[in-house]
Amino acid sequence: MSGSGSPEETVKPSRLGVGLGVLLSAGLLAAGTFMVLVNRPSAKLQPYTLRPDDPQVVSFGARIYAQQCAACHGVRGEGQSDWRERGTDGLLPAPPHDPSGHTWHHPDSQLFAITKFGLAKLIEQPDYKTAMPIYDRVLSDHEIVAVLSWIKAQWPPDVRTRHDEINEAARKSGM
Ligand code: HEC
Repeated sequence: MSGSGSPEETVKPSRLGVGLGVLLSAGLLAAGTFMVLVNRPSAKLQPYTLRPDDPQVVSFGARIYAQQCAACHGVRGEGQSDWRERGTDGLLPAPPHDPSGHTWHHPDSQLFAITKFGLAKLIEQPDYKTAMPIYDRVLSDHEIVAVLSWIKAQWPPDVRTRHDEINEAARKSGM
């Protein structure tokens, strides 16, 4: 996933990477770690805005979700069982995207970066092993926005409102 043309240079959450590095070396990395990302406002990510209120984008996203994500994250975003526990392979199972998970704790730009460039890139830990695929060159930016918009469109109004607030806070801090 090197190569030219992709805005990878913009996915450089450096101060944030340091914070996570400390966590990682302390062995504290758990499924909840991405909360830390939300609380560290220094990430310079490309701004992307999900469109859960646009029926065309959402129904396009639903098809992509069924094809690309449902096998792991569940047909309705329920995730895999015991998703907080690493398997015998050392990898985390796929977490839910419904309100019981923490997908909604991430602002749009982070959700986009996780899906397009991968978790290892976002946390600047190239050796981080995960079952989550990287969708750069598999899905277009529009397709990634659409699939994430579908995920957001499934959340109940209170969770969507809280996610809007997380986006607003992220935007104010320049993420
Ligand atoms: C092969 C299984 C698999 C597929 C297919 C898959 N994922 Fe994942 N996904 C995972 C796993 C496993 C994790 C947790 C990774 C970790 O923390 O190590 C994850 C994590 C995520 C996260 C971060 C969630 C959080 O709470 O921090 C997002 C966002 C995400 N996936 C989106 C998607 C989208 C969108 C698709 C489809 C385009 C998709 N995934 C397809 C396995 C998968």
